[in-house]
Amino acid sequence: MTGQPAISDTPWLDQDAEPFIKIRSVTKKFGNVTAVNNVDLDIYQGELFCLLGGSGCGKTTLLRMLSGFEVPTSGTITIDGSDMSSVPPYERPTNMMFQSYALFPHMTVEKNVAYGLKQDKVPSGEIVDRVDEILRLVELQDFKKRKPHQLSGGQRQRVALARALIKQPKLLLLDEPLAALDKKLREQTQFELMNIQEQVGITFVVVTHDQEEAMTLSSRIAVMDQGQFMQIGTPTEIYEFPETRFVADFIGSANIIEGRIIEDGSDHVRVKTDLGEIYIDHGQSTKEGDRVWIAIRPEKIHLSKEPPAEPGPNQAVGQVDDIGYLGDTSIYKILLEGGRIVDVTAPNQIRPKSRTHRITWEEEVYLHWEASSAVLLTK
Ligand SMILES: Nc1ncnc2c1ncn2[C@@H]1O[C@H](COP(=O)(O)OP(=O)(O)OP(=O)(O)O)[C@@H](O)[C@H]1O
Ligand SMILES: [Mg+2]
Repeated sequence: MTGQPAISDTPWLDQDAEPFIKIRSVTKKFGNVTAVNNVDLDIYQGELFCLLGGSGCGKTTLLRMLSGFEVPTSGTITIDGSDMSSVPPYERPTNMMFQSYALFPHMTVEKNVAYGLKQDKVPSGEIVDRVDEILRLVELQDFKKRKPHQLSGGQRQRVALARALIKQPKLLLLDEPLAALDKKLREQTQFELMNIQEQVGITFVVVTHDQEEAMTLSSRIAVMDQGQFMQIGTPTEIYEFPETRFVADFIGSANIIEGRIIEDGSDHVRVKTDLGEIYIDHGQSTKEGDRVWIAIRPEKIHLSKEPPAEPGPNQAVGQVDDIGYLGDTSIYKILLEGGRIVDVTAPNQIRPKSRTHRITWEEEVYLHWEASSAVLLTK
């Protein structure tokens, strides 16, 4: 074995790793609208990085600044070691797949994909080879003589991807690449996109407003709201350790409960809430009397018909107000004394035969959760 250093899967944790993209204090204003508000971000080579947020939060604007189609009002963007301030789009090591990717309707798949190389006057023999290779990668080699209207939505999407990849950019920027696809096809295409990204090893920055998509695709996610980053982290970090109510609520679903710190230990906190006392088994920089919020994911709450063996924190009792059957899981709306509704999800493992064990409408049920399951939020 030679002593080749392994390429880290988590370069953002490596103090010495040099970011591929450096975004520093970048703001973009359109008149009096601040679309992107003083953001800082590092993205590393080989990442599939997602910008996630609701409509109008500034995702496309940030992507367009990376591609050079928009110029920051202030701040700097460095890509692959070069300051991009005075570099026009066509001289950047980037390629962008737009929110509405327009294929040329009168051209075949092959010609659509070859177009960029023709423009660049690449020799025709090389064009043929590269088009073949890229169509094999997106699994469209049998479709090269078709025109866009003879393809499905997913196939068209892959043509657009092939067209963006063929110029071998170092950075591919994709704006809502899968938005036009229906749910099933979108999920399938997400995996294809990940595989393709892995094979080509190009850094992808993907814009999406679909949180499941961001969770599936990304190495890391930046959650955006009103032109700012609310949190940047891996899908697991963002889901398990949201830092704000906004993020806890935006990613997945969460029961958010307001309370006050009644005990602030170094390795635990106790919080008084209208759901009773909540005990969390990790410390936090809070103090007694602070107003806080607690997020508990619906799947982290256990439901039982039996009362707990002994009273304690992290328990509640309520009545089943509603049940939503989702196939693999069911969602239970539990009405607590005092009128609060708590969402609980549970997998449907029980077969219809054993109906008697099932929890049903209006039944009294007991809720409990582990001390590690609740997340304490201070904003
Ligand atoms: N050229 C422009 N002129 C004026 N305002 C603009 C312009 N482009 C974007 N904006 C505004 O900037 C804000 C951010 O827009 P942007 O297109 O970046 O949002 P987005 O996050 O991509 O939204 P969506 O999910 O709907 O595509 C919006 O308020 C938008 O109206
Ligand atoms: Mg957009």
